Amino acid sequence: MSMKAQRRIDECQPAETLDLDFARSVVAGLARPDKAIPSRFFYDARGSELFEEITQLPEYYPTRTETAILEKYATEMTAGAPAGSSLIEFGSGSSRKTEILLAAMPELYAYVPIDISQSALADAAERLAQRLPKLRVLPVVGDFSQPLKLDDAILEHPRVGFFPGSTIGNLEPGDAVNLLAQMARVLGSGSRFIIGVDLKKDVDRLVAAYSDSAGVTADFNFNLLERINRELGADFNVPAFEHSAVYNAEDGRMESYLVSKVRQQVTLFGRNVTFEAGESIHTENSHKYDLEEFDALVRKAGWSTVNVWNDEDHLFSVHELIAG
Ligand code: SAH
Ligand code: AVI
Repeated sequence: MSMKAQRRIDECQPAETLDLDFARSVVAGLARPDKAIPSRFFYDARGSELFEEITQLPEYYPTRTETAILEKYATEMTAGAPAGSSLIEFGSGSSRKTEILLAAMPELYAYVPIDISQSALADAAERLAQRLPKLRVLPVVGDFSQPLKLDDAILEHPRVGFFPGSTIGNLEPGDAVNLLAQMARVLGSGSRFIIGVDLKKDVDRLVAAYSDSAGVTADFNFNLLERINRELGADFNVPAFEHSAVYNAEDGRMESYLVSKVRQQVTLFGRNVTFEAGESIHTENSHKYDLEEFDALVRKAGWSTVNVWNDEDHLFSVHELIAG
């Protein structure tokens, strides 16, 4: 990473609170009778790398499908954005999909990628600085569900939101409504928002996407335990857990778990955490929507749907919303 990219991130929103949030959330999550750790903690540097590998897997259809939709309709999607807007992206990761929108928005004032993963932001900022040297990139490290204060200069320009990847599906529907309502406040009344949504589909395809044959998604899940060992000094015996991905039809979501193969104890901050054989840690939900459900959800959050674009097989959709 170049010093330039590093400095640009540090000047924005430092993330000192993130380490404390990780420690507290892991302790609280493992103390629950139904052990669970929020999925935002997947994304340390290794987790972000593994996610990028997932996006290349034959079974993981969402990335290539959404990318194709963006490539086909980027001009239409960005037509409503006033010249001089800023593009604010939530959970920007590698910002690869963003490059498709950026090519269709030459009059942008700035691009503001927001991500909890400092390494993903730094890599993306460095690549964009090389590819689009005239673009003003103002990265923000942090949790997008926390109150967000944008720079005054950004607030002086119109704002367009971008939230691809169906990352919205990683939240429970009630939390998704609260987050989208908060985003409407940050972006402002009349703002446009482009959001990607993974659609309901046959269960076999879904399960394969979250339990790929190469085991990359399993490694992504195991990395959470490795991260807890590395950063919090725990002693998880990672091979004593297995990855499990199941579809919960009632809640319309894929669920990921780490399942203990044996009865075992783990030490975290000097305390023992006991796992029975077969006991699991719930690590992720990936909600799948149909178009009507998603439209109802965004309405509750104060958005109206302007346009929806799909692939031919109706695997994935991209929605243009307007606030207010
Ligand atoms: N937008 C990219 C990446 C999706 S992966 C794409 O569509 O391919 C999800 C991204 O959201 C990761 O980069 C992860 O670090 C980030 N993320 C997850 N939860 C977050 C949170 N609560 N706050 C900020 N970023 C988050
Ligand atoms: C980022 N998010 C939308 C991905 C998903 O599909 O839920 C993360 C992921 N988890 C396993 N594979 C990919």
